[in-house]
Order: sequence, then C-alpha cells, then structure tokens
Amino acid sequence: VVLVVDFGAQYAQLIARRVREARVYSEIVPSTMPVAEMLAKNPKAIILSGGPSSVYAEGAPRLDRALFEAGVPVFGMCYGFQLMATTLGGTVDNTGAREYGRTPLHVSKAGSTLFEGTPVEQSVWMSHGDACSAAPEGFAVTASTDVVPVAAFENDEKKLYGVQYHPEVLHSTHGQQILEHFLYRGAGIQPTWTTGNVIEEQVAAIRAQVGDKRAICGLSGGVDSAVAAALVQKAIGDQLTCVYVDHGLMRKDETEQVEKDFVAATGARLVVVDAEKRFLDALAGVSDPETKRKIIGREFIRVFEQAQLEILQEEGPEVAFLVQGTLYPDIVESGGGTGTANIKSHHNVGGLPDDIEFELVEPLRQLFKDEVRMVGQELGLPEEIVQRQPFPGPGLGIRIVGEVTKERLDLLREADAIAREELTKAGLDREIWQCPVVLLADVRSVGVQGDGRTYGHPIVLRPVSSEDAMTADWSRLPYEVLAKISTRITNEVADVNRVVLDVTSKPPGTIEWE
Ligand code: XMP
Repeated sequence: VVLVVDFGAQYAQLIARRVREARVYSEIVPSTMPVAEMLAKNPKAIILSGGPSSVYAEGAPRLDRALFEAGVPVFGMCYGFQLMATTLGGTVDNTGAREYGRTPLHVSKAGSTLFEGTPVEQSVWMSHGDACSAAPEGFAVTASTDVVPVAAFENDEKKLYGVQYHPEVLHSTHGQQILEHFLYRGAGIQPTWTTGNVIEEQVAAIRAQVGDKRAICGLSGGVDSAVAAALVQKAIGDQLTCVYVDHGLMRKDETEQVEKDFVAATGARLVVVDAEKRFLDALAGVSDPETKRKIIGREFIRVFEQAQLEILQEEGPEVAFLVQGTLYPDIVESGGGTGTANIKSHHNVGGLPDDIEFELVEPLRQLFKDEVRMVGQELGLPEEIVQRQPFPGPGLGIRIVGEVTKERLDLLREADAIAREELTKAGLDREIWQCPVVLLADVRSVGVQGDGRTYGHPIVLRPVSSEDAMTADWSRLPYEVLAKISTRITNEVADVNRVVLDVTSKPPGTIEWE
C-alpha cells in the first residue's frame, strides 16, 4: 500500500485516485495519525498531500521527523513539500511571493528521477503563499519557477522527493508522469494493482467473513448496490438473497432491468417486493417535499424489514450479514474507521427477533466510484446498470411538484423516458451528470394543439454537469437536442403542453426540485 497523508484539503482523495490510476493501491490516512502507526501499515511509499495551512501558522499540522528516517520513500506535494523542507533543515520563507493557478516550471535537471523524459519547460498548477528558498542538505534542486527558486527537490539516496506544485491536478501537464516516476523509479513499486485483483481479494475476504452463513442485500437499481451484490454473489452464490423493493416510483424499465438484466448477469436469487400500492396509499394527499421524503423513507424501511423477516423465517435464523454498497469517499469523509461496524436491526419496526444482529459486508469500501464501475463491468453487469447516472432514493416521488398519483407518475415516466432516450442518442450521457425531468403537477398553462385550446402541465428539464453533486452547473445542451425532446414530449405525452429548461446552477438551486 501507498499511504496518502491528508493535510486537510480536498487534494488527498484526488492523489489517492491518481496513484491507483498508476495501478498502485493507495489509502488515505489523517495527518494526525502517529508515524509509528503509519509505518505499522508497512507502506511501500508515503505521499504528503497539500493543505490549506502555512507551515508558519500556529497549530499548522506537523510531521514527526521519524517519518523521513524510516527508509520508506516519501513524496511531498505543496504543503507536504514545504513541511518536508522545514523538517529536514531547508528554508521556507513567507516572502509574499504567491503563485496561484497555471505556472511555467523550469526543470533544471532533466534526467532526474522525477523529471526524466519530460520537457524542461512545463505547465504546473500552483497554489501557495510561502516559498522554499533553500533545499535541505543532500537534496538536489531539480526545478524552479520565476518566483520560487526551489520548486522541486530530490534525494535519491534517501528516496525523498518533493514538488511545490500539485501534480495530481490535470492542469499540471506532466503531473501523472511525475507521480509515476516517483512510484516506479523512486520507490521501486511495480504497477500491478487492477480491478481484477480487487475482485479476487474481495471474493476471498467475503468468503472468510460470511463462511457458510447467509447474507441479504438490498438492491436500489443504482450502481453501488448492484456491484456490491454481484461481488458477494460471486463469492458466496446462493447464500445471498437480494431484495428489491419496487415502490412504484422508479423510472420506466428500471424495475425490469433489475429483475431481468441483473439476475441474468449474476444469477443472483432475487426477491422483488411489489409495494407500489402501499407507497401510493401512504403518499395520497401529500405535496410537501419533506413529508413525502419522510413517508417514502419510512415505508421503505418497513417493507425491507418485512422482507428480511420473511427470508429469515424461510431460511432459518442464520441470515446474519447485510451487504451495503458503501464507497471509499464515504469512509474517508466519516473519519476513515477500519473496523467492521455492527448494526442492530430495527426490531421495533419489523418485529425481528431481539437477538438477531446483522454484520455489515461492505465490499466496495476501498473503492472510488469510477473503480466501482470498472469492477461492475468486469463482473459482467450490463452497461445500463454500470453506467447509470445518479437517481435519488425517493425516485420520481420528489420529481412531481404536488401530490404523487399513479397517473402523474405514468405521465412523468413517459416524459423522462423520452428525454433519456434522446440524450443517449445524442451521445450526451457521459457529458451530463444527470438530467432530472420534473412534472409541475400543480401548475397549468394554456396551449394550442390541433386547433384546440389545451390547459396542460409543464415539464422541466434539469440537465446538470457536476463532479460530486455538491455543486453543479446547468448543462449547455445543443438546441437541436432540446428541440427534439420538447417536440416529442409535447406530442407524445398527454396533458403536457409545455417544456421548460432549468438554467440555475447549484448553489443556489439544488439539483432536484424537492
Ligand atoms: P440535490 O437535489 O440535493 O441532489 O442537489 C444532490 C444529488 O443527490 C441526489 N439525491 C438523492 N439521492 N436519496 C438519494 O439516494 C435522496 O433522498 C436524494 N435526494 C437527492 C440527487 O439526484 C443528486 O444527484
């Protein structure tokens, strides 16, 4: 493993992903972790991330010198670089010489371990206030900028390396190459980590964890639960039962995709609970968004627990594992715990026996989203599932502004299917993050169709581009595509006489309307 020490910016996750793109397994650890604990993980190399602090600021994160004396290759980036410089006796000044953004880098030692084979002039991404003016003893200065005399240093003997800039961001034109040079040349690591290894490793781990007991997995139709289930199915076969709750709020064909395509690809045992009527009854007369969300969440848990109970009764009480599609960013963001969590099932609701405890199986907890998709692909899941765009748990229930009824759901399903079909046809699926289609059920407007006056509902298109759904921009879709979608929806969907485009970024608007 290569450890990425997180100094508190968003860069650590990106660095960890880049290391894995170099086919070397990486994990993120907080900078507060004692060095002895880091070394106990037996890392092949350690990378120090950037961070928001100045090395001179009071309370700025520090590093124990022991880290550099353990014989483990270290690569410092930005803040990590400055920390390395100050800890090892170099000089970092607060000169006011700031650099932000794209900056020309002058490589002064072209054949160095890091820069071998890259141009002497290259563009790098800088973001710093302090600057290193003298490298520590024993280090060769291998690059500079117009402002910073020491923008990279290397010590081949001790296998210590650092750069002032951010090689992990794409604006640093040779960043990935330099990272790979550190990993392969500096640290002597072989690029052998692949999603194939992940599958093998996880299959063995799941078998060891579950033994001959039984596991249950809730399928949502989304990528994560589908890949998690497929992986567990591969490991323990029919000891796994998948449960899919059809709440009647799914998009067109999605339930069939799970029922047919998922089962065909994995051979998993699947229990489909048809709960449409139950959800619609519970939602009758409700138009407040938060109330809708709460009702859907509550009913979902009840139905899922009822299904668990039935499986338990059928299979005997040894169903002891619950599979979840937790991803690495969730783990990192929630503090990076490594133990297996035990959750007590909600016996108060579903009437499960008191003494049943589920242990979690989380086979994706080391993976980033794009890696999950690769694993899914390798496991033979269909493209429609593996490349699925995000879709909210409460489904179309929160895309009908107003009361949710069967008729309105059917109408929205048609409109949504048309929009999806046209976006796919235009090859825009990878470009947009997702495109909610919203029915303004409580709004009517006047139109004219076939010589007659209509008084129908508007449909809103909400195409967005985003990296992580935390922020988003509205997608500039080609007019022809928008025109096609608009014409088809107004022609083909009864009661809709108007299509409007949402041109709001997030913030201020959220991606969903409710
Ligand atoms: P907002 O509307 O908050 O959405 O900008 C951000 C992202 O989250 C999705 N979303 C949900 N996903 N359960 C989910 O699993 C939910 O209740 C939920 N609400 C919103 C939304 O589609 C977008 O990708």
